[in-house]
Amino acid sequence: MPNQLRRPGIFIAGTDTNVGKTVVTAALGLALQQTGAKVGVMKPVETGSAPDKTNSDVHRLRNVFASCKNVDVQNVYSLPQPVAPLEAARTAQQSIDIDAILNACRTFAVHHDYVLVEGAGGILVPLTETHDVCDLIRLLGLPCLIVGRTRLGSINHTRLTLRGLQEAGIPVFGILLNHTDTTPEEQQASTVKLIRELSDAPVLDPLPFQPHMDSQWEGSIRTLANHSTIREVARMVQESI
Ligand SMILES: Nc1ncnc2c1ncn2[C@@H]1O[C@H](COP(=O)(O)OP(=O)(O)OP(=O)(O)O)[C@@H](O)[C@H]1O
Ligand SMILES: [Mg+2]
Repeated sequence: MPNQLRRPGIFIAGTDTNVGKTVVTAALGLALQQTGAKVGVMKPVETGSAPDKTNSDVHRLRNVFASCKNVDVQNVYSLPQPVAPLEAARTAQQSIDIDAILNACRTFAVHHDYVLVEGAGGILVPLTETHDVCDLIRLLGLPCLIVGRTRLGSINHTRLTLRGLQEAGIPVFGILLNHTDTTPEEQQASTVKLIRELSDAPVLDPLPFQPHMDSQWEGSIRTLANHSTIREVARMVQESI
């Protein structure tokens, strides 16, 4: 397929919005750039914010990598309405051009050793009338890292996401479960145990909860970049060359 990326990279897909895709993308990007590699971080479609707003994914990613000369962050569509991309584009009287995203990712990939592409919401979120996030991943030809939560409800979300990706023929690199809140330890442990038992993709050790994540964003991401789970994903990405 002419549009598929020729460089190693992964697509960071969520089981939902707010599961920690940006957190994982940022921590993984930091871990990879520490090896001296050139890393391209792409958030092709962002809704609900403008890149200059402090809560925007693109803004938070640029902050983390501000002092890293070997990392570039790029966005293709930034739409202000806090709704799904298809609707946000309609409201802004725009349409999302999948080929424009594919071309941006392909060009980006030529200039970087690794490309990390962060999705928008979950995999069946519509980008256009005909394409959802899952279609975009397939067209990019990237393997996927599923980011999910450890709280109740995540077994269903994670299994549905895994099934959807597998049915689309997308290789699943691994499943990373994130402690986004202080759900009781017993519930978190049982979620991780059952997802491990029922998934035929590698399930990494969960990423710990960082109590001051939003007020100490850069420091928290630096801490997670050194966590064994992120180190392990970085190693897997490096070995996928
Ligand atoms: N390990 C963690 N510890 C504490 N807070 C976390 C952790 N992971 C994520 N969060 C918090 O959860 C919220 C959602 O995280 P994040 O923005 O990375 O999600 P997302 O999946 O990228 O969302 P979106 O769909 O909007 O792109 C943020 O406030 C973030 O700081
Ligand atoms: Mg995000």
